[in-house]
Amino acid sequence: MEFQKEVSLKNFNTFGFDVKAMQMAFIQSVSDLDRVRLETDWLQRLCLILGGGSNVLLTKDWEGPVLKIDILGIEVVHQTATHAVVRAGAGENWHQFVLWCIAQNFGGLENLSLIPGLVGAAPMQNIGAYGVEIKDTFDHLLAYRKSDGAIVRFEAADCGFGYRESVFKTILKNAYIITHVAFRLTTQNHQIKTHYGAIEAELAKNQSEPSLRNVSNAVIAIRQSKLPDPKKLGNSGSFFKNPVMSESLFQTIQLTYPDVVGYPAGPGKMKLAAGWLIEKAGWKGFRRGAVGVHELQALVLVHYGGGTGAAIAQLAQDIQASILEKFGVALEVEVNIL
Ligand code: EPU
Repeated sequence: MEFQKEVSLKNFNTFGFDVKAMQMAFIQSVSDLDRVRLETDWLQRLCLILGGGSNVLLTKDWEGPVLKIDILGIEVVHQTATHAVVRAGAGENWHQFVLWCIAQNFGGLENLSLIPGLVGAAPMQNIGAYGVEIKDTFDHLLAYRKSDGAIVRFEAADCGFGYRESVFKTILKNAYIITHVAFRLTTQNHQIKTHYGAIEAELAKNQSEPSLRNVSNAVIAIRQSKLPDPKKLGNSGSFFKNPVMSESLFQTIQLTYPDVVGYPAGPGKMKLAAGWLIEKAGWKGFRRGAVGVHELQALVLVHYGGGTGAAIAQLAQDIQASILEKFGVALEVEVNIL
């Protein structure tokens, strides 16, 4: 491992913004982290931990150090008659890991196919799609404590998982570096989840039975039909969270907009489709110079090339102001703005 200076981050963020990191190192093992801790002051400073760079908006050069996590390896750490606990290095590509699990006939992650990013980022915001979140199959994770280099094991209950939330974004922010994540997956009697409408429709279209592989293929087809491929068009997936609100506010909106899309989200609460709000406010397909709102999914902001993260941040603010004015709803950003 080398300690590098002035590195372009263009290839390390899925928006493709060309900003620099003043210092950077590529971490392949826990002993690399020990070296950073013992040979530099980076861990005591504000240090950016980068996985796949699929959930960050870089608006300017990063004046401090960056650690790119490249810790690899997948192992079955425990197996019973019905389940396997599989642990992956934080630097493993998430989608390749999901495909590996399906190939072993390990069930539970298939609905999370094709989510961009790396394994280590998955618990940070409890990634989710098509009716499944990682908290459903999460077993434990290992994290490096920056203050003293201890490896700490976190069980699910320690992680404070919520909708796109965990303790690693809140009370333990910047305190740990996730090195490995383990999932408890089924080896038989798989609990296939097709209740998210589009999956059933996709399976029916191809007359496929609901196997792990077919559900994964259905999810891949649905995602490819509306989410832009970051290799072709810069983006970071959903830019905003779907807002959770009281049932009464939801009903008020419904009086004016009977077609509003929402789902029950616990007692007295509704979760609204932010993409619907943004589309209804006229932003879908909107373009301002090098940035815009994706034409097929209004929750996704896109970078056409040659633009800046600041332009995306400005567009996001304008969208938030417009949604607040039109619907009285405050949209929260899902992406980490730096
Ligand atoms: N909708 C619109 N217009 C749009 C987009 C969506 O009207 O432009 C409405 C549609 O009626 C649709 C509903 O919103 O039925 C839900 O849309 P979709 O199924 O595309 O999901 P989403 O709620 O917009 C969430 C996640 C996605 C995840 C999908 C599928 C968040 C912030 N986003 O989006 O996650 O893939 O569900 O489960 O929760 C991500 O976090 O980066 C991400 C892509």
